[in-house]
Amino acid sequence: MTARATALTLGLSALALGAPAARAQERPVTPARADRIADSVLALLSLDEKVGQLIQMPGGRDQTGPTVPAGGEDAVRTGRIGSFLSFWGADATRRMQRAAVEQSPHHVPLLFALDVIHGFRTIFPEPLGEAASFDPATAERDARAAAVEASAAGIHWTFAPMVDIARDPRWGRVVEGAGEDPYLGARFAEARVRGFQGDSGFTAPTALLATAKHFVGYGASEGGRDYNTGEIGERTLWDVYLPPFEAAERAGVATFMAGFSAVDGTPPHANRWLLTDVLRDRWHFGGLVVSDWEGIRELMPHGIAATRADAALRAVTAGVDVDMSDNVYGTDLAALVRAGRVPQAAVDSAARRVLRAKALLGLFDDPYHGVTAERERRDVLAPAHRALARASGRASVVLLENRDNTLPLSKAVRSLAVIGPLADDRRSSLGNWLLAAEDRDAVTVLAGLRAALPGARVSYLAGVPADTVDARVGPGIDSAVALARAADATVLVLGEREYMSAEASSRSTLDLPGAQLALAQAVVRAARAAGKPAAVVLMNGRPLSTPWLADSAGALVESWFLGVEHGNAVADVLFGDYNPAGRLPMTVPRAVGQVPLYYNHANTGRPAVAADHFTSKYLDVPWTPLYPFGYGRSYTTFAYRALRPSADTVRFGSARDTLGVSVEVTNTGARAGDEVVQLYVRDDAARVVRPVRELKGFRRVSLRPGETRTVRFTLRAEDLAFYGLDMRRVVEPGTFTLWAGGSSAAALEAKFAVAGDTLVVAPAPPPYR
Ligand code: NOJ
Repeated sequence: MTARATALTLGLSALALGAPAARAQERPVTPARADRIADSVLALLSLDEKVGQLIQMPGGRDQTGPTVPAGGEDAVRTGRIGSFLSFWGADATRRMQRAAVEQSPHHVPLLFALDVIHGFRTIFPEPLGEAASFDPATAERDARAAAVEASAAGIHWTFAPMVDIARDPRWGRVVEGAGEDPYLGARFAEARVRGFQGDSGFTAPTALLATAKHFVGYGASEGGRDYNTGEIGERTLWDVYLPPFEAAERAGVATFMAGFSAVDGTPPHANRWLLTDVLRDRWHFGGLVVSDWEGIRELMPHGIAATRADAALRAVTAGVDVDMSDNVYGTDLAALVRAGRVPQAAVDSAARRVLRAKALLGLFDDPYHGVTAERERRDVLAPAHRALARASGRASVVLLENRDNTLPLSKAVRSLAVIGPLADDRRSSLGNWLLAAEDRDAVTVLAGLRAALPGARVSYLAGVPADTVDARVGPGIDSAVALARAADATVLVLGEREYMSAEASSRSTLDLPGAQLALAQAVVRAARAAGKPAAVVLMNGRPLSTPWLADSAGALVESWFLGVEHGNAVADVLFGDYNPAGRLPMTVPRAVGQVPLYYNHANTGRPAVAADHFTSKYLDVPWTPLYPFGYGRSYTTFAYRALRPSADTVRFGSARDTLGVSVEVTNTGARAGDEVVQLYVRDDAARVVRPVRELKGFRRVSLRPGETRTVRFTLRAEDLAFYGLDMRRVVEPGTFTLWAGGSSAAALEAKFAVAGDTLVVAPAPPPYR
């Protein structure tokens, strides 16, 4: 069968057969049609060409623009590459695509992938900060805008969202996920998948294939040290680490990425139980699995593959389809098949999945996916996206402290001192993962404050460096103190530079880096002595332990890394143009020695009691966090009452049966504001230990002063389920406690009971191995 005959049989466009002109035509590609296209194209390919579909080559950039490694274009022309990562730009991708569809033997189009993590050129809040909005719709909108931009620059596939649960803030990659909670994580996972992929099908020119990563357990790296081994108990794996991945799968995520770190002895890249038994057989995932960067070759240093060939064999038979960057499949896979060590079927199914993804995107109809230089110019850094970034930025800010109403600051101040090494740092305003981003797009806090106070004198001093302890910090601190004394008000901007919370950026402390605490102490004390307001703005990608600031700063504001509109969003909050309502998606410890510290922990047989020595606590630090999960303040206040389940006793007949819960929340202050109403549940006694409380619902509501709202939640039976003694997913009869309020420390409580027999929501998964 010739390429032409096959393509005609399928009704493929002339383009797929090598005709030169682009046709921005959109034909819906149903899953059934994608299957037919994939099968027919697969039948044309030689073994080496099938392996070629599995190879993902990294691109690069130099002064001339996008580049590929030597031999890259030849490999495209000979059909030895299926996809590129980190190669973008409308003209560049069109040129490379043309080489693939016009010159390669079977005209198979390429996929272009990129880490579009929190924006393409318009950078939105980094994912942990965005999760602090407790508003998945915000994340969905931002991901959609990111997809519009990235797809205009020729990208088909993003390696996001990262849905790893992270309980250890020393791990630098906590910045990339939604924090410590599986329920919040699952809601943000779904929202981000929907946002990246869109709701018009993959043939839509702005659709991206999303990736749920890093499957699974990367967030459990011991000591918070990146790439480290982890230990996760089987029940914890299913109850805590897997739910956001399962939610992403149910939301239709197109691809999964295998994680780096070995969990209980097996790196995911070689874990057939995980990638096949769980992902494909239990969850029925039909999309692609991509390795992480060199994750296949790394099976050798992990010590479970002696050679590249062993590594290729283990990965492909476990279920890794695409080999990102290390070309182990390229050098070894075809020979393994020829030697009978890897079944041909394993390569066929992996290549078929790649072809199917290309077919779903409609690339066999329009390999250019509607990409034009004109569209790129129009959509990248579109003004509407900047406006969205400002809205998402301010929705993500968490007000931690506000003594004596230090905030909002008055716009009548005549002079403002802005102090701190991050106040005018554009790059840090953007946060990590800046591939297509440009520093010049960022509005720093200094620039945002200046724009908000056009008539005032806004003076700036870094004071100390952000990341080093310079022996000569004294004079910098003295000048900063003088500046603060002379001004009507002071804003200190402190924290981490963007590179400090990122991949390969684990830290052993959670303190302010460098001499920033000394700077803050001197400036805050001087301002207090002079009776002038001083607010501290934190910028960071992980929880920082700042007990001194918590006790002493007039106001403390967590601003994360908010992206291009960082400074304007912070100014909106500091001057009260926006009433902050962000909530912490991770517990903030008092000291790094408390880590791991998370709100949904087990009670132990000896829960902490101050007066009882032999209970679960520390000698030198309280057992409680500095700030609990879900915490955040407002410029107004809220009160809760009337927490009520719809029935005192409920009998569940199926996983989808429900119990209603309502609670009344009132804005008791003088300003309008948003409150994040949170619902927590505890299973009081079960056959296995259950967490002290678990988030099971949240709603961000806007309330006028004095307004009361009844917020209603629906608990499904399966929301109360857990992996029981025999690993079946069950709801056991017994009593449950509910709490509702503005954080995981909510005090308003109610009870209900589940009657009847144990309800089995899902059978036991295949045994963990
Ligand atoms: C390694 C990271 O772990 C992963 O998250 C990322 O997508 C790849 N590199 C590609 O850049």
